[in-house]
Amino acid sequence: MPWDRTVLTLTIGAIVYYVCVVPRMRTLLPIDTCEVLMKDGALAQPSIEATVWQPDGCDLQLYSQNDSKNCLRKMKSRKNRHQNVNVVFTGDSRIRQLRDAFLRQLSGIDRDWLANRNITCVPAKHYKHADEEILIKDSGVRVSFNWAGVLDNGTGETGRSLERMIRNMRRNDRVADLLVLGNGVWTIRDCARKNRSQADCLIEYRTMFLSLLPKLNTIARRTTVVWAPQIRVNQSRLSDREFTNSNMRMYNEAIESALASQADSKVIYWNSLERLSYELDDSLDGLHFGPTAKYYATQMLMNLLCNRLASFTESGSNSCCPMIRAGKRQ
Ligand SMILES: *[C@@H]1O[C@H](CO)[C@@H](O)[C@H](O)[C@H]1NC(C)=O
Ligand SMILES: *[C@@H]1O[C@H](CO)[C@@H](O)[C@H](O)[C@H]1NC(C)=O
Ligand SMILES: *[C@@H]1O[C@H](CO)[C@@H](O)[C@H](O)[C@H]1NC(C)=O
Ligand SMILES: *[C@@H]1O[C@H](CO)[C@@H](O)[C@H](O)[C@H]1NC(C)=O
Ligand SMILES: *[C@@H]1O[C@H](CO)[C@@H](O)[C@H](O)[C@H]1NC(C)=O
Repeated sequence: MPWDRTVLTLTIGAIVYYVCVVPRMRTLLPIDTCEVLMKDGALAQPSIEATVWQPDGCDLQLYSQNDSKNCLRKMKSRKNRHQNVNVVFTGDSRIRQLRDAFLRQLSGIDRDWLANRNITCVPAKHYKHADEEILIKDSGVRVSFNWAGVLDNGTGETGRSLERMIRNMRRNDRVADLLVLGNGVWTIRDCARKNRSQADCLIEYRTMFLSLLPKLNTIARRTTVVWAPQIRVNQSRLSDREFTNSNMRMYNEAIESALASQADSKVIYWNSLERLSYELDDSLDGLHFGPTAKYYATQMLMNLLCNRLASFTESGSNSCCPMIRAGKRQ
């Protein structure tokens, strides 16, 4: 009977659909790489209780301490048995603050005296201008900080630390999963102290970045590489007269234009970090990250690392933009 055949066809169709198509749909969907998150956004207050960072009309997904640990454990479980997840921060004190915020995200312990007045800097405990490696065993992550105050042509602190990463990569040892790097304010300060014009120092800064870029591109073959730009300053609190927002912007433009000149570079320019610092006014000293800026910055990094893996948050979504607002996004 035709009716039976219709039912049969529909049943077989449904079985084929649920057995073969549905399980694959998730992998066929484009993975949200969180690119939008690193590019732009604004602080918004969708409700009285909550303020959130909104890239392109959606809410930044917030990772709890448990979410973050679970994500890193999952990353570790995908590696060879004795390999940890490696997260590397290379740069100046602002980058060290991002390292501190990442550690806090996983441990709950704050050690950043620059964004928390309750903490005193103890030189013997806080290695301000030195390399440091911290292994967080319960999350299986090694967090490294390489002090690199200024850029160089490959032979200085920044260049040498990148070389080290490349050597490790070639040996398949401690291959970094994420590298966050940045510096600039020491260049601006040195330039002023030597009575040179910032315009001249800026040209050198850009040239040095371009000479380091091949190393960064090499690292970016296996590592997510993020350039953290200069953030907003509050000049009225700073004694360095050259620490102005127009200088910060000028140095950022030098990096942006250098990266834009290499269309195939996978290095991510973290534009939303600068945007975030303009939206917030929480720096304690006018130069460094304040607590809220660091918190959102770390959440952006967690999204960048974790969203592509699977869902770890209570909302169960692995999108950077889980709350889709009408009319904004598909
Ligand atoms: C975090 O995870 C641990 C162990 O998996 C659990 O005991 C604890 O209750 C969790 N904490 C929160 C706030 O969910
Ligand atoms: C500093 O300590 C005081 C008193 O214990 C506490 O109320 C405050 O929340 C702490 N501030 C920070 C930023 O942790
Ligand atoms: C790199 O910089 C160092 C120190 O500033 C300098 O001595 C060296 O000549 C430079 N090398 C190149 C290839 O520019
Ligand atoms: C920079 O200029 C100031 C004032 O013109 C001068 O006192 C100082 O010695 C100069 N410093 C250097 C390093 O040339
Ligand atoms: C800069 O700091 C001063 C002094 O603490 C404060 O009054 C002012 O609001 C800040 N300005 C901006 C633009 O953040």
